[in-house]
Amino acid sequence: MTIQGKHILIGITGGIAAYKICELIRMFKKSEANVKIAATPNALNFVTKLTLQNLSQNEVYIDEFTPKKWKPEHISLADEADIMIIAPATANTIGKMAQGIADNLLTSVACAFSKKIILAPAMNVNMWNNPSVQENLKILEKRGVEILPPESGFLACGYLGKGRLCSIDKIYNSTKEALNYSEKLKGKKVVITSGGTIEEIDPVRYISNYSSGKMGLALAKSAKQMGADVTLITTKDVEAPFEIIKVKSALDMQNAVFEEYETSDIIIMTAAVADYRVKNYSEQKMKKGDSDTITLELVKNPDILAELCKKRQDCRAGKSARNDVPLIIGFCAESENLLENAKAKITKKGCDYLIANDISRKDIGFGVNDNEVIILDKKGGITKLEKAPKPVIARKILEIISPVES
Ligand SMILES: Cc1cc2nc3c(=O)[nH]c(=O)nc-3n(C[C@H](O)[C@H](O)[C@H](O)COP(=O)(O)O)c2cc1C
Repeated sequence: MTIQGKHILIGITGGIAAYKICELIRMFKKSEANVKIAATPNALNFVTKLTLQNLSQNEVYIDEFTPKKWKPEHISLADEADIMIIAPATANTIGKMAQGIADNLLTSVACAFSKKIILAPAMNVNMWNNPSVQENLKILEKRGVEILPPESGFLACGYLGKGRLCSIDKIYNSTKEALNYSEKLKGKKVVITSGGTIEEIDPVRYISNYSSGKMGLALAKSAKQMGADVTLITTKDVEAPFEIIKVKSALDMQNAVFEEYETSDIIIMTAAVADYRVKNYSEQKMKKGDSDTITLELVKNPDILAELCKKRQDCRAGKSARNDVPLIIGFCAESENLLENAKAKITKKGCDYLIANDISRKDIGFGVNDNEVIILDKKGGITKLEKAPKPVIARKILEIISPVES
């Protein structure tokens, strides 16, 4: 992965952590990237223009009303950069960006910027916890801005808590990763399912599982970054810069997936679909009776992955108007004999790839931030992805599956 020759625009705002960005500029320059700096006037209270100018070996852009060229600087800076990093991002600038306010050069560039923006907030813990700051960050995240959350620790203001700028290495690596994202999924419609299905017993009770939906969400975000048109069908509340279809039960999920089938190029089934649902849903809350036990009768839910593959088989056999068919990827969660069970499943279901994760381990899989998976393909190939955060695993999975024609 290289960033040599890439155009990186760093936006610096008026926070105490501004001095740390000098090291980031040096790291980018050492990697032979072209670096330009847009600083707010307040940022220059914390770091000098001369320092930034020398480190970046470029003009430092502060005032939009004294341009050096005919083209307004907020537009030319936005046009020529491959990526914009705003670090540290103050509560003030975050708020302005969320509301589309463009009242200085930096916020004007951000407003005109149509490529990837990475934002690294840093502030006092009480400012960080302010609901308006959190809501503004959610707005920005939903629009596709990547937020690198601050870390906890001793803050310059004397407080202890969350608010310290994340590490410079983290900003450097995230930038490198974002710049190296391939556009393999450009023009493809990717449909992803996530979360555990909810099978209702009565108006207040249900049967579900521990699936957090994190793997599916990470895949959806990665696919979006790789240029795909993404639809996430999920049982979880999610705010993201792509289409979300909220569902509850396995039957809801099946309907939604089948509706999307006709227009999709890739379908990834990460959701933990309940194998069974309650046979007789009670319209009224079930009362506690005299008996010490009760019996719930369960009926089998459809196997959505297998049904999808069957539908695709029918399309291939000419039983449908659709000529081209989507690539289908399944996930399987196993608590024993991971590889053997996954091998049997990929053959039985008929999907192109099956991604197996071991749910007997507490440090990966269900509900946690990391995963470690084995990717099986329909030709018998096996790739192991070592333990890593789910976004990293998601990206690797997409890199592996995206070039294959079904
Ligand atoms: C010493 C000092 C340190 C500050 N540190 C921060 C900070 O870390 N984060 C933040 O959001 N605001 C901080 N502020 C407040 C901002 O500088 C202020 O909100 C300013 O309007 C931000 O302007 P800008 O976003 O245009 O750069 C600090 C202010 C002072 C005086």
